[in-house]
Amino acid sequence: MDRIVITGGRKLKGEVIISGSKNAALPIQVATLLTDERCLLTNVPRLRDIYTMNEVLKAIGSEVKETTAGFSFQSKPKQKKVAPYELVKTMRASVLVVGPLLVRLGEAKVALPGGCAIGQRPINIHLDGFKKLGAKVEIKEGYVHLKAKKLIGTKITFGFPSVGATENLMMAAVLSEGRTIIENAAREPEIVDLADFLVKMGAQVSGAGSGVIKINGVKELHGCEHRVIPDRIETGTFIIASAITGGEIKIRNARLDHLDALIDKLNQTGVKIEKKEDYILVDGTSKLSPLEIETMPYPGFPTDMQAQVMSLMCVTPGTSIFTENIFENRFMHVSELQRMGAEIGLKGNVAFVKGVKNLSGAPVMATDLRASAALVLAGLVAKGETDISRIYHLDRGYEQIEVKLAKLGAKIKRIK
Ligand code: UD1
Repeated sequence: MDRIVITGGRKLKGEVIISGSKNAALPIQVATLLTDERCLLTNVPRLRDIYTMNEVLKAIGSEVKETTAGFSFQSKPKQKKVAPYELVKTMRASVLVVGPLLVRLGEAKVALPGGCAIGQRPINIHLDGFKKLGAKVEIKEGYVHLKAKKLIGTKITFGFPSVGATENLMMAAVLSEGRTIIENAAREPEIVDLADFLVKMGAQVSGAGSGVIKINGVKELHGCEHRVIPDRIETGTFIIASAITGGEIKIRNARLDHLDALIDKLNQTGVKIEKKEDYILVDGTSKLSPLEIETMPYPGFPTDMQAQVMSLMCVTPGTSIFTENIFENRFMHVSELQRMGAEIGLKGNVAFVKGVKNLSGAPVMATDLRASAALVLAGLVAKGETDISRIYHLDRGYEQIEVKLAKLGAKIKRIK
């Protein structure tokens, strides 16, 4: 298994180009199942999760081709209706195939994903939504079977604005009969990107990005070409890499308007972030002050940035407080950061971080995607060598992170 070894202490300087958004690309890959015509996606990051989703699509009958520009997708008219456990267990986003399969083929069978490192992650909100559209849902032998002769649009009100459930239901509703209204929908930029893609295919979707999404079902959709939005979490991670090393970097292919809650907090602590014509300038040379962070659905502070900001606060004088409201077990990075000398106390879903002068390099273990990024950031500032194992988690969500950081001057290498 690959490892990443970092010798900390170098200030980052230079330019980095942000990749396309993994979390925007995944549902759009799935949405290509809604037509038999060819779809082309560009600005797709070459990441493990993206290739896993391609395997899921191939397993249900799509043809996927990789080109230098991106990926092309063509779904076959007689798709198989099953997303197998071997694939679903490695990536939960596979459950998104339910929406398109159900509405196109009248049936879908998907392995129940089970829990994961950061929480139980049930799919009840997805399933309740499909029931409202008229589907029969049965759970048998670890699989959820959904059946519906046809889906009929209706009003669906989510108890919680789940990102995945919003995407899944949107994809079913675009080909359902009549009008679907999703209330308390998730408002993430990735939802807007999916809606933009669906509209290019010929769907009638309005309100994406607000809490109420309205969809008028159409009879059929068409192929199209789409450029995926930049990855806001990768962008945020590089901003923190600059801040934690006291460096100054330029970030290209990024959307600052997708990161308001993070930028507010980083400005508050003393990181200067400026939008220039075609890049973002991050000046992390100032002294920083502690923060109070509470994760919330978008436009609140993203849970996917909690771990990385915690690394920054580990070396910021004063006490910072982190409240995690989205996932019940998303403090796996805490014990690893403690191994590097961080002073962190935990009480339920709240972490108290007392900034220390120095972290010290140590062998640590990546436990989930964003926790791994937090360890890389801590390694960039720690004294001595940080040796991170199990970095397959990191490879799920960050394209060539060690190459990008090395270009910015970090002493970092991957050991095969
Ligand atoms: C997506 C992102 C993930 C991010 C998360 C929250 C992708 C591929 N992943 O995950 O990076 O951390 O949004 O911003 O886009 N829940 C239920 N029942 C459901 C669905 C969700 O109880 O049916 C709960 C989950 O257990 C979790 C919370 O709702 O506690 C948020 O989940 P959700 O918004 O659905 O996140 P994902 O789409 O899984």
